[in-house]
Amino acid sequence: MNADERGSKIERLIGVHLCSSAAKYAVLLVTLGLHAETGANAWLLYQPLDGSALQHYRQALPAAMTALGNSAVIASAQGELIRGVRGMLGRTLRMEAHWPAEDSLVLGTLADLERDAPQLGLAGRLPTDAFWLKSVSAGGVKYTIVAGSNDRGVLYGAFALLRKIALGEPITNLDEKQAPYAPIRWINQWDNLDGSIERGYGGRSIFWENGHVRDDLSRVAEYGRLLASLGINGCSINNVNADVRLLTPEYAPQIARIADALRPWGVRVAISVDFGSPKTVGGLDTFDPLDRRVAAWWAARTSDLYRAVPDLGGFVLKADSEGRVGPSTYGRTPADAANVVARALKPHGGLLFYRGFVYDHHADWRNLKNDRARAAYDNFHPLDGRFDDNVVVQIKNGPIDFQVREPASPLFAGLTQTNQAIELQITQEYLGQARAMVFLVPMWKETLDFDMGGPVRELVSGRANHRPTGGFIGVANVGLDDNWLGNYLSQANLYGFGRLAWNPDLGARQIAGEWTRLTFGSDPKVVDTISAMQLQSWRVYEDYTGVLGLQGLTDITGNHYGVNVEASERNGWGQWHRADEHGVGMDRTVATGTGFIGQYPPAAAKLYESLETCPDDLLLFMHHVPYTHVLHDGKTVIQYIYDSHYEGAKAAENYVGQWKSLRGRVDEQRYAAVLAQLEYQAGQAPVWRDAVNNWFFRESGIADEKGRVGYHPGRVEAESMHLEGYTVVSVMPWESASGGEAVSCASGAAPCAASYRFEGAPGWYTLRVQYFDTNTGVARFRLRIQGQLVDEWAAADHVPTQKIDGSSSTRRTVAGIALRPGDEIRIEGIPDGGDTAAIDYIEIESNTN
Ligand code: GCU
Repeated sequence: MNADERGSKIERLIGVHLCSSAAKYAVLLVTLGLHAETGANAWLLYQPLDGSALQHYRQALPAAMTALGNSAVIASAQGELIRGVRGMLGRTLRMEAHWPAEDSLVLGTLADLERDAPQLGLAGRLPTDAFWLKSVSAGGVKYTIVAGSNDRGVLYGAFALLRKIALGEPITNLDEKQAPYAPIRWINQWDNLDGSIERGYGGRSIFWENGHVRDDLSRVAEYGRLLASLGINGCSINNVNADVRLLTPEYAPQIARIADALRPWGVRVAISVDFGSPKTVGGLDTFDPLDRRVAAWWAARTSDLYRAVPDLGGFVLKADSEGRVGPSTYGRTPADAANVVARALKPHGGLLFYRGFVYDHHADWRNLKNDRARAAYDNFHPLDGRFDDNVVVQIKNGPIDFQVREPASPLFAGLTQTNQAIELQITQEYLGQARAMVFLVPMWKETLDFDMGGPVRELVSGRANHRPTGGFIGVANVGLDDNWLGNYLSQANLYGFGRLAWNPDLGARQIAGEWTRLTFGSDPKVVDTISAMQLQSWRVYEDYTGVLGLQGLTDITGNHYGVNVEASERNGWGQWHRADEHGVGMDRTVATGTGFIGQYPPAAAKLYESLETCPDDLLLFMHHVPYTHVLHDGKTVIQYIYDSHYEGAKAAENYVGQWKSLRGRVDEQRYAAVLAQLEYQAGQAPVWRDAVNNWFFRESGIADEKGRVGYHPGRVEAESMHLEGYTVVSVMPWESASGGEAVSCASGAAPCAASYRFEGAPGWYTLRVQYFDTNTGVARFRLRIQGQLVDEWAAADHVPTQKIDGSSSTRRTVAGIALRPGDEIRIEGIPDGGDTAAIDYIEIESNTN
């Protein structure tokens, strides 16, 4: 490729148009980063520097750049450097086709640099995907070298150099080598071919629509860029609940188009496959992994696919799990299943990711020895050493399913002769579904640092047992929304996953700080405030949704979103907490329980087995105790439940004030969107608080020693108000509505009204209307005081429920209302479609200032 061709390739990559060939590389018609505030560029904003930082980096960085090698990945590195330097320093690097005789940035693989520029004295070996940033002087010329072990390494080095500039780190006298911690740094997307995404909260699929690959794959390329900036090198592009059509011939060229879009960013494509495919689409009468025809079918089909996508990363396989067929149909093992597919991939260099998420979802809950947490270890540990070398057992971080707190899966220590990778969930399925701020890095760190005869990070990466491969897989589920994940703050989880996959020794504080600087700028107040909010957010969310190892007390058979304390009980799904009138928690001890704790190596098992040493945070995951059991912190279990829910809800409410302190320091678009999200969360948290506390109060019969539970001064239940058109309805589950009831305006009765005569002291008040906003229509509300309209709003949110329940419960806060005794507070509800403008209660809170 000559310089012109390379130039136009880079133009395409950075999305700019050049006005004339004479002015090439000098005049950019499009200002890069223009739409940065939409979130589309995430942490790659490259905001302009000013003052001394601008002067410093302008001096430190040469004007010219050259690259050895002409691959698409190296072109991406060049394009990115041009884009980043242009954005931050307002300068356009000049691309030189030949070896420069002036101070320059030089990009290339170490091998190419050694060969073409021996005068630089660069030598040695770098591990795969590693880079070396090095300042060198030769013949009176200064070079800033971005060397990679391979093209990918060069690209990662380019991103690292730009990150240094954005973070204000030195770039002179560089001599920094970085190698990724593990070879597997992959993303799984759970996208369906119709364009929907299982557990996705950021819009429709960037890959698929209406049963085929989208015509416009520009967002896929942008995604590749984001992933590359973190060192992520693989992406599986369809739901683990795989659509069998994907293995039919017509999909191969479509998958190839996605691979083409990601390849310039060093990201290999993989697909999820269904184990029944030899029968369902292959025309065989069996999918028995030990049948020769089945093996031949996998081999042939895989070869076809590799003809279309020669660098396909491999397959992901969910089998014998949640209704997916698997080897158990023929009495075969997961190793039999994994190996038959792995052998088809082997000649092409592909990997088979076999998911460790295999369990029986029809378990008998009456049997106190049954335990879903045991399943992964029970199924896979006996097979250790029987998987081929290109099989990776993909293991969720905890033994259940991405709950707010779980111990590390014991299977990490249970496989020593088998490749493994840890599966972390970036999409916040059980953690607020992108409507709550929950920064997951501290949670992931706890697992990765947990010692199981070596820290988990060493086990999963393959380091501990000298395995050929291993690493990190993040279930991301980004979508077409501008900000990818449905909210700006959730981007920190994608960033954090990538950073940890590259280097799990990084601290949560460092990652939060980096992300905030790169995403919102370096104003210290902004950095400190957002980092502090993010760092506390996991604990806050846990405090009001599932403490002491209870797991998320949500609707586990439905949307996994709102509160539903008993949804996990008396069904086969096995997420039991076994709370009854006497006590709470799953007894997983070896002595009296399910024996799950015995799956851990001795030191960890000892820690968990004893009530003396079991950490409070996991107490109810490991033990069944009475409500009066005293925790290490001196509180009883029941009082801890009450207190933590009040503390969590309060902390969530405080986010709003913390965020408001950033007004004028964050661009208006993101400021307003995050404020709305945090205000919503501040309204959701009390729904959880009251539901969980009321439920445990009713069950235990033990009062809150601080007198808060069941006592809500200023609260007026809608069902006790004067109703016109509204009817009282029971809410299921009862704890998700105050008093177990709400008022609902049946269509035809509209408009309805609920009114109440204020009896308190005259003064200024804040009114809170707790209402239900289902996704079945857009009801409207009006709030009147003595007939005067003081507020009106539409219930137009997109919460994941059609029902009046804990998922739809939300609130409207109206501050600065003057009330006198006898004033009528009246709410009018106008239903729409299935949204019945239901109301739970109002709260009248005195404003003291
Ligand atoms: C969870 C999730 C499912 C998903 C499954 C999996 O159970 O709710 O949507 O398919 O995990 O990881 O396979």
